[in-house]
Amino acid sequence: MSINYSEKIPNNVDLSSDRRLQRALEKWQPAYLDWWAEMGPTDFNDKDVYLRTAVSVDRDGWAQFGYVKMPDYRWGIFLTPPEKDRKVGFGDHLGEAAWQEVPGEYRNSLRRLIVTQADTEPASVEQQRLLGHTAPSLYDLRNLFQVNVEEGRHLWAMVYLLHSYFGKDGREEAEELLERRSGNADRPRILSTFNEPVQDWLSFFCFTTFTDRDGKYQLLALAESGFDPLARSCRFMLTEEAHHMFVGQTGINRTIQRTCEVMKAHPGEDVTKYGAIPLEMIQKWINRWASSSVDLFGAEISSNAATFFAQGLKGRAHEEKNYERHDALDEGYAIAKWDGKSLVNEDVPLRNAMNEVLRTDYWNDNAKQAVVWTKTTASFDIPFEFSIPDRRFNRKIGMYADGFFTPAGEPIDEATWNARRGEWLPTPEDEAYVKALMVKCHEPGKYAGWIAPPSKGINDQGVDFEYVKM
Ligand SMILES: [Fe+2]
Ligand SMILES: [Fe+2]
Repeated sequence: MSINYSEKIPNNVDLSSDRRLQRALEKWQPAYLDWWAEMGPTDFNDKDVYLRTAVSVDRDGWAQFGYVKMPDYRWGIFLTPPEKDRKVGFGDHLGEAAWQEVPGEYRNSLRRLIVTQADTEPASVEQQRLLGHTAPSLYDLRNLFQVNVEEGRHLWAMVYLLHSYFGKDGREEAEELLERRSGNADRPRILSTFNEPVQDWLSFFCFTTFTDRDGKYQLLALAESGFDPLARSCRFMLTEEAHHMFVGQTGINRTIQRTCEVMKAHPGEDVTKYGAIPLEMIQKWINRWASSSVDLFGAEISSNAATFFAQGLKGRAHEEKNYERHDALDEGYAIAKWDGKSLVNEDVPLRNAMNEVLRTDYWNDNAKQAVVWTKTTASFDIPFEFSIPDRRFNRKIGMYADGFFTPAGEPIDEATWNARRGEWLPTPEDEAYVKALMVKCHEPGKYAGWIAPPSKGINDQGVDFEYVKM
C-alpha cells in the first residue's frame, strides 16, 4: 500500500491534489531518510528528544512540543499564505504582478539561487553530526537536535520548490543535494564555510550565531523575490531561524558568564586552571566564524548580484520598509577598494554592490550582538569588550582576500599577519585546550564546567528538565 503523503508530510500546499508532485516527493523521501541515517547526528536516532514541530503557519502556535525520535520528525512543507495581488517589489519588473510560475528566461538563475540556499541546509547537519557526543548538557543537546531537524525541514522547503517548479532538472538537483558531502574533496558542499568542520561546542555556538545569521539575511533577500513561492517559503523559514541564532548567542553568552564567574572567584588567576575558556580565546572563535561567514555574501562588486536584483529574483533585506527607491538605478554605493597597496573609496553602481549592501546589514546585526556579550562582562565589572572583526579581516573571497588586515580593518604586510595571526585566530594550542573541555554531560540538570546553565529552559520547562531521554 502506498503511503498517503497528504498525511505523512504535513503541508499547507495541498500536496494531495497534485499526484505527480506527490509521487516525486514519495521517491525522494526514502533517499532523504537514508541521508539522515548516514549523515545526520550520530547515535541518537533512537532517543526521545523534546522537539518542537511546525504544525501551521500561524504567527502564534505554529509549533508543537513533545518527545520525538529524530527520524520520526514530521518534516513538513510550509509556505506563508499568499499575499493578495502581490507585486514584484524591486528591479526592472517593479510593480508587475509577482510570478506564480517560474519565468522561462529566469529559470536557470532561480534554480541556481534555490540550489545554493538548499545546499547549506544538509551541509550544516553534516558539519554538526558528531557534536552530540560532547554536549555540555541535555538542554544543549536538545537545542543542537532542534537546529538539525529544522535544517532538514529547510531542505524539504527548497526541494519542494525544485520538484514543483523545475521539472526533471529540479528532481536531479534534489538528488544531488543528498549526494554532496560537507568537507568531501570530490563532491563538497557549494559554499566554503559549509565545508569547515564544526568540532567543538564553542564553534557550534559561533556557527549558529554567525552562519545561521547569514542564513537569515539570505532568506530576507529571497523573501522579497518576485517568484512568489520562493518568497513565501523563505518567510516561514525565517521563523525557525530565529531560534537557531538564539541557541548560538545565548550559548556564547553562557560561556562568557561562566568565565566571568571563575575570574571573580579567583582574581588574577589563569581561568584555564579552573576549566573555563579565557575571554580572549572566545574572541578568537568569534573572529574566525564571523570572518568566515562574511565571505558567504560573495564578492563586493558583482555582476551576478546586479542581475539577480534587476531580474527581481533577490532583493535587499526589508526592501519595502527600508528603501524609498526600489529600482537601485542611478545610485552609487561607496566601497573601500583594495588596490593591493591601499584602500581607496570609490562609488560603484548600487546594483553591482548588492552583496555588499546585504553584508553591511548583516555585519551591523552582528555588531549589536557583540554589545550584548560585552554587557555580560560589564555586569561582572570586567573591562573586556567583545567586537566583530572588520569585514576585511581574514577574508578568502572578494577583493580583501588579496590583502592582509587586522581585526580593525587596517592593512598590514604578510610578515606582520603571520607574526600576529595567533593573537586574533585560534592557535593549535587554543583548539587543543577547547577540545579537551568537550566532555559529555548527559544527566538532567548537569552542565559542563565551562558553561553556565541557561536562565530558563525551553517552552517553560526547567533547566533540569530531561530534554533528551538517554
Ligand atoms: Fe536553514
Ligand atoms: Fe538555521
